[in-house]
Amino acid sequence: MPDAPLPAVPAAPVAPDVAAPPAAVAASSPSALPPKLQIDNLFMSYTDRRGKTVQAVEDVSLSLANKPGTGELAVFLGPSGCGKSTILKAVAGLLPVDSGSVLLDGQPVQGTGRDRGMVFQSYTSFAWRTVQANVEYGLELQGLPKAERSKRSLELINQVGLKDFAQAYPKQLSGGMKQRVAIARTLANQPKVILMDEPFGALDPQTRWGMQTLILDVLRKQDNTVLFVTHDVAEAVYLADVIFILSHRPAKVLRRIDVPYFQSRDIAVKQSAEFKRVENEILDQLHTLHVQGNIRVGL
Ligand SMILES: Nc1ncnc2c1ncn2[C@@H]1O[C@H](COP(=O)(O)OP(=O)(O)O)[C@@H](O)[C@H]1O
Ligand SMILES: [Mg+2]
Repeated sequence: MPDAPLPAVPAAPVAPDVAAPPAAVAASSPSALPPKLQIDNLFMSYTDRRGKTVQAVEDVSLSLANKPGTGELAVFLGPSGCGKSTILKAVAGLLPVDSGSVLLDGQPVQGTGRDRGMVFQSYTSFAWRTVQANVEYGLELQGLPKAERSKRSLELINQVGLKDFAQAYPKQLSGGMKQRVAIARTLANQPKVILMDEPFGALDPQTRWGMQTLILDVLRKQDNTVLFVTHDVAEAVYLADVIFILSHRPAKVLRRIDVPYFQSRDIAVKQSAEFKRVENEILDQLHTLHVQGNIRVGL
């Protein structure tokens, strides 16, 4: 691994991707594709019943590259209450925006849609459905024939390590297993973008570590674009291709940090000099930017 300092550039306004490559290169280069997800000058606020307005998101612009075959995993790292979930909800189409735009494959996002899937911190399985029936839920809505539903769901259940639990009910599962169900159910819909809002926040460190590795093994093998929210620095460094450091509310993008790819999936990687270097670089950035709060350095 090179020992060069991390490129940490002011991210607002986000500089456009590198100048267009020559035509011959452009044809085969992934950078020739429009961004998978592009957020431009996003402003969002909440108004309470008394009419008081709280600005939650202020002029957020960012873009995630379209990388066929590998995908991109972006992490939002920011203090609690800064507006991370609000941005995710704009991408999901769950909340209206005051101004600005969210483009998916160049098309404006309008309302919710199957092309975006969300995994929340709280467990969201249907208690009365088995694991398999939970994973098949979206496929039923799509009207897929039973045989195809079954094939696709069992494949995913296998991938998330729940092979022996396909016929179990959520109450028979641990927290980590329930999140595996949520991930499989989201993947079943084959969304273009997966939104993960502190999905492992309620899990113990050991389970959390296993789930992080699962994310890398399952999501990163396909060309999934993932927007992942966390306030755990080590989780961000381990998972991310790119980290966006967000300010206190209203959320603004303070830095975009590109993270090196760690070959190893072993827990030892988190103790490696390279990993520590990146982690320290981010902690320095958080300090310099006065971003505190409950951001933590964890397993
Ligand atoms: N339903 C709501 N009504 C009013 N204000 C809200 C609502 N949801 C969130 N907020 C405000 O917006 C801010 C950002 O919320 P959120 O995006 O959930 O933060 P985060 O996910 O970063 O913890 C919060 O600090 C809160 O003050
Ligand atoms: Mg949140």
